[in-house]
Amino acid sequence: MTPDRWQATESYLAEVFGREDAHLAQLQSKAIEAGLPDIAVDAVVGRLLLLLTGLTRGRRAIELGTLGGYSGIWMARGLQPDGKLITLEIDEKHGNFAQDQFTQAGVADRVEIRRGDALDTLGELKGELAPRSVDLVFLDADKERYPTYWKLLRPMIAVGGLLVMDNALGSVSWWIDDLSSPSARAADETNRLLADDPDFEAVAFPLRQGIMIARRIR
Ligand SMILES: C[S@@+](CC[C@H](N)C(=O)[O-])C[C@H]1O[C@@H](n2cnc3c(N)ncnc32)[C@H](O)[C@@H]1O
Repeated sequence: MTPDRWQATESYLAEVFGREDAHLAQLQSKAIEAGLPDIAVDAVVGRLLLLLTGLTRGRRAIELGTLGGYSGIWMARGLQPDGKLITLEIDEKHGNFAQDQFTQAGVADRVEIRRGDALDTLGELKGELAPRSVDLVFLDADKERYPTYWKLLRPMIAVGGLLVMDNALGSVSWWIDDLSSPSARAADETNRLLADDPDFEAVAFPLRQGIMIARRIR
Protein backbone atom coordinates (compact mmCIF):
# COMPACT_ATOMS: atom_id res chain seq x y z
CA MET A 1 0.00 0.00 0.00
CA THR A 2 1.22 3.49 -0.89
CA PRO A 3 -0.35 6.86 0.04
CA ASP A 4 -1.52 7.26 -3.58
CA ARG A 5 -3.04 3.82 -3.62
CA TRP A 6 -4.78 4.45 -0.27
CA GLN A 7 -6.27 7.63 -1.77
CA ALA A 8 -7.33 5.75 -4.90
CA THR A 9 -8.92 3.03 -2.75
CA GLU A 10 -10.96 5.61 -0.83
CA SER A 11 -12.08 7.21 -4.10
CA TYR A 12 -13.06 3.82 -5.49
CA LEU A 13 -15.09 2.94 -2.38
CA ALA A 14 -16.83 6.32 -2.50
CA GLU A 15 -17.65 5.90 -6.20
CA VAL A 16 -18.96 2.35 -5.96
CA PHE A 17 -20.54 2.21 -2.49
CA GLY A 18 -21.01 5.88 -1.56
CA ARG A 19 -24.39 6.58 -3.16
CA GLU A 20 -26.57 8.97 -1.16
CA ASP A 21 -29.98 10.49 -1.72
CA ALA A 22 -30.18 14.19 -2.58
CA HIS A 23 -30.84 15.24 1.03
CA LEU A 24 -27.89 13.32 2.49
CA ALA A 25 -25.63 14.50 -0.34
CA GLN A 26 -26.21 18.12 0.68
CA LEU A 27 -26.36 17.64 4.44
CA GLN A 28 -22.63 17.91 5.13
CA SER A 29 -22.12 21.12 3.13
CA LYS A 30 -25.18 22.72 4.77
CA ALA A 31 -23.82 21.69 8.18
CA ILE A 32 -20.47 23.34 7.43
CA GLU A 33 -22.27 26.50 6.22
CA ALA A 34 -24.16 26.52 9.52
CA GLY A 35 -20.86 26.41 11.41
CA LEU A 36 -20.76 22.72 12.37
CA PRO A 37 -17.38 20.99 12.15
CA ASP A 38 -16.59 18.78 9.14
CA ILE A 39 -16.24 15.56 11.14
CA ALA A 40 -19.18 13.39 10.11
CA VAL A 41 -18.67 9.90 8.71
CA ASP A 42 -18.80 9.54 4.94
CA ALA A 43 -21.40 7.79 2.79
CA VAL A 44 -19.51 4.48 2.78
CA VAL A 45 -19.51 4.33 6.58
CA GLY A 46 -23.12 5.55 6.51
CA ARG A 47 -24.06 2.63 4.27
CA LEU A 48 -22.20 0.25 6.57
CA LEU A 49 -24.26 1.58 9.51
CA LEU A 50 -27.46 1.08 7.52
CA LEU A 51 -26.44 -2.47 6.66
CA LEU A 52 -25.41 -3.38 10.22
CA THR A 53 -28.53 -1.87 11.78
CA GLY A 54 -30.60 -3.93 9.35
CA LEU A 55 -28.58 -7.08 10.08
CA THR A 56 -29.38 -6.86 13.80
CA ARG A 57 -33.09 -6.42 12.87
CA GLY A 58 -32.64 -3.46 15.15
CA ARG A 59 -35.47 -2.08 17.24
CA ARG A 60 -33.30 0.00 19.53
CA ALA A 61 -30.08 1.80 18.66
CA ILE A 62 -27.98 4.33 20.54
CA GLU A 63 -25.55 6.79 18.98
CA LEU A 64 -23.01 8.82 20.94
CA GLY A 65 -22.32 12.02 18.96
CA THR A 66 -25.21 13.26 16.79
CA LEU A 67 -23.45 16.22 15.13
CA GLY A 68 -25.69 17.20 12.18
CA GLY A 69 -27.62 13.93 12.00
CA TYR A 70 -25.79 12.43 9.01
CA SER A 71 -24.94 9.02 10.51
CA GLY A 72 -28.18 9.05 12.49
CA ILE A 73 -30.26 9.20 9.30
CA TRP A 74 -28.47 6.15 7.88
CA MET A 75 -29.02 4.25 11.13
CA ALA A 76 -32.66 5.27 11.42
CA ARG A 77 -33.26 3.93 7.91
CA GLY A 78 -31.81 0.55 8.90
CA LEU A 79 -34.10 0.12 11.91
CA GLN A 80 -37.23 -2.01 11.87
CA PRO A 81 -40.37 0.08 11.24
CA ASP A 82 -41.13 0.25 14.97
CA GLY A 83 -37.48 0.82 15.89
CA LYS A 84 -35.99 3.82 17.62
CA LEU A 85 -32.63 5.57 17.62
CA ILE A 86 -31.60 7.53 20.70
CA THR A 87 -28.75 9.84 19.75
CA LEU A 88 -26.73 11.72 22.37
CA GLU A 89 -25.39 15.23 21.77
CA ILE A 90 -23.84 17.83 24.07
CA ASP A 91 -23.82 20.81 21.70
CA GLU A 92 -27.12 22.67 21.40
CA LYS A 93 -26.41 23.99 17.91
CA HIS A 94 -25.57 20.51 16.63
CA GLY A 95 -28.73 19.10 18.20
CA ASN A 96 -30.95 21.80 16.68
CA PHE A 97 -29.45 21.37 13.22
CA ALA A 98 -29.80 17.57 13.46
CA GLN A 99 -33.43 17.79 14.56
CA ASP A 100 -34.22 19.70 11.34
CA GLN A 101 -32.36 17.13 9.26
CA PHE A 102 -34.21 14.21 10.87
CA THR A 103 -37.49 15.94 10.00
CA GLN A 104 -36.42 16.63 6.41
CA ALA A 105 -35.26 13.03 6.02
CA GLY A 106 -38.62 11.73 7.25
CA VAL A 107 -37.15 9.84 10.23
CA ALA A 108 -37.99 12.24 13.08
CA ASP A 109 -40.65 9.83 14.37
CA ARG A 110 -37.99 7.22 15.06
CA VAL A 111 -35.15 9.38 16.34
CA GLU A 112 -34.84 11.02 19.74
CA ILE A 113 -32.00 13.44 20.43
CA ARG A 114 -30.94 13.36 24.07
CA ARG A 115 -29.12 16.57 24.83
CA GLY A 116 -26.37 16.90 27.39
CA ASP A 117 -23.15 15.19 28.31
CA ALA A 118 -23.24 11.56 27.16
CA LEU A 119 -21.88 10.47 30.54
CA ASP A 120 -24.99 11.86 32.26
CA THR A 121 -27.35 10.64 29.55
CA LEU A 122 -25.95 7.11 29.70
CA GLY A 123 -26.56 7.19 33.45
CA GLU A 124 -30.21 8.09 32.77
CA LEU A 125 -30.56 5.44 30.08
CA LYS A 126 -29.23 2.79 32.45
CA GLY A 127 -32.30 3.45 34.62
CA GLU A 128 -34.70 3.48 31.65
CA LEU A 129 -33.60 0.58 29.47
CA ALA A 130 -33.63 -3.07 30.43
CA PRO A 131 -30.15 -4.63 30.49
CA ARG A 132 -29.15 -6.19 27.16
CA SER A 133 -31.93 -4.46 25.24
CA VAL A 134 -29.93 -2.40 22.73
CA ASP A 135 -29.34 -3.88 19.27
CA LEU A 136 -26.73 -1.46 18.00
CA VAL A 137 -24.51 1.22 19.49
CA PHE A 138 -22.54 3.66 17.35
CA LEU A 139 -19.76 5.23 19.42
CA ASP A 140 -18.64 8.51 17.83
CA ALA A 141 -18.39 11.19 20.55
CA ASP A 142 -15.34 12.48 22.47
CA LYS A 143 -12.63 9.88 21.88
CA GLU A 144 -10.79 10.23 25.19
CA ARG A 145 -13.80 8.83 26.99
CA TYR A 146 -14.24 5.78 24.76
CA PRO A 147 -13.16 3.29 27.47
CA THR A 148 -15.51 4.90 30.01
CA TYR A 149 -18.39 4.93 27.54
CA TRP A 150 -17.71 1.31 26.70
CA LYS A 151 -17.97 0.26 30.36
CA LEU A 152 -21.36 2.01 30.62
CA LEU A 153 -22.62 0.67 27.28
CA ARG A 154 -21.48 -2.92 27.68
CA PRO A 155 -24.35 -4.08 29.95
CA MET A 156 -26.92 -2.52 27.60
CA ILE A 157 -26.01 -4.49 24.46
CA ALA A 158 -28.26 -7.44 23.61
CA VAL A 159 -26.93 -10.88 22.73
CA GLY A 160 -26.42 -10.62 18.97
CA GLY A 161 -26.21 -6.84 19.27
CA LEU A 162 -23.35 -4.77 17.92
CA LEU A 163 -20.99 -2.04 18.99
CA VAL A 164 -19.69 -0.01 16.05
CA MET A 165 -16.88 2.39 16.92
CA ASP A 166 -15.60 5.17 14.69
CA ASN A 167 -11.97 6.38 14.89
CA ALA A 168 -10.79 2.95 15.94
CA LEU A 169 -7.50 3.60 14.13
CA GLY A 170 -7.13 7.35 13.87
CA SER A 171 -8.45 10.80 13.02
CA VAL A 172 -7.05 13.88 11.29
CA SER A 173 -4.83 14.67 14.30
CA TRP A 174 -3.61 11.23 15.47
CA TRP A 175 -3.08 7.68 14.27
CA ILE A 176 -2.89 4.42 16.15
CA ASP A 177 0.81 3.89 15.47
CA ASP A 178 1.64 6.83 17.74
CA LEU A 179 0.07 6.59 21.19
CA SER A 180 1.32 9.98 22.40
CA SER A 181 -2.15 11.54 22.25
CA PRO A 182 -4.88 10.72 24.80
CA SER A 183 -7.34 9.97 21.97
CA ALA A 184 -5.01 7.41 20.40
CA ARG A 185 -4.49 5.76 23.79
CA ALA A 186 -8.25 5.69 24.42
CA ALA A 187 -8.97 4.11 21.02
CA ASP A 188 -6.21 1.56 21.56
CA GLU A 189 -7.49 0.74 25.05
CA THR A 190 -11.05 0.27 23.80
CA ASN A 191 -9.94 -1.88 20.84
CA ARG A 192 -8.02 -4.10 23.24
CA LEU A 193 -10.86 -4.27 25.78
CA LEU A 194 -13.18 -5.56 23.07
CA ALA A 195 -10.63 -7.90 21.51
CA ASP A 196 -10.03 -9.52 24.91
CA ASP A 197 -13.68 -9.66 26.02
CA PRO A 198 -14.86 -13.29 26.05
CA ASP A 199 -18.50 -12.19 25.58
CA PHE A 200 -17.77 -10.32 22.34
CA GLU A 201 -16.31 -11.08 18.93
CA ALA A 202 -14.55 -7.98 17.64
CA VAL A 203 -12.56 -6.81 14.66
CA ALA A 204 -11.38 -3.43 13.39
CA PHE A 205 -10.58 -2.57 9.81
CA PRO A 206 -9.09 0.45 8.03
CA LEU A 207 -12.20 1.91 6.44
CA ARG A 208 -11.80 5.71 6.54
CA GLN A 209 -10.37 6.41 10.04
CA GLY A 210 -10.92 2.87 11.27
CA ILE A 211 -14.12 1.12 12.22
CA MET A 212 -14.32 -1.47 14.98
CA ILE A 213 -17.28 -3.83 15.09
CA ALA A 214 -18.01 -6.07 18.05
CA ARG A 215 -20.92 -8.49 18.50
CA ARG A 216 -22.12 -9.84 21.83
CA ILE A 217 -22.07 -13.61 21.57
CA ARG A 218 -23.26 -14.45 25.08
C1 LIG B 1 -17.61 13.09 15.27
S1 LIG B 1 -19.00 14.02 15.72
C2 LIG B 1 -20.33 12.88 15.41
C3 LIG B 1 -20.54 12.67 13.94
C4 LIG B 1 -21.82 11.95 13.61
N1 LIG B 1 -21.90 10.68 14.31
C5 LIG B 1 -21.90 11.71 12.12
O1 LIG B 1 -21.10 10.90 11.62
O2 LIG B 1 -22.76 12.32 11.45
C6 LIG B 1 -18.93 14.03 17.46
C7 LIG B 1 -20.12 14.70 18.14
O3 LIG B 1 -20.08 14.34 19.52
C8 LIG B 1 -20.47 15.45 20.28
N2 LIG B 1 -19.92 15.29 21.63
C9 LIG B 1 -18.64 15.51 22.03
N3 LIG B 1 -18.52 15.27 23.34
C10 LIG B 1 -19.72 14.87 23.78
C11 LIG B 1 -20.23 14.48 25.05
N4 LIG B 1 -19.45 14.45 26.13
N5 LIG B 1 -21.53 14.12 25.15
C12 LIG B 1 -22.33 14.14 24.04
N6 LIG B 1 -21.91 14.51 22.81
C13 LIG B 1 -20.62 14.87 22.68
C14 LIG B 1 -19.90 16.64 19.54
O4 LIG B 1 -20.56 17.84 19.89
C15 LIG B 1 -20.10 16.23 18.08
O5 LIG B 1 -21.33 16.71 17.61
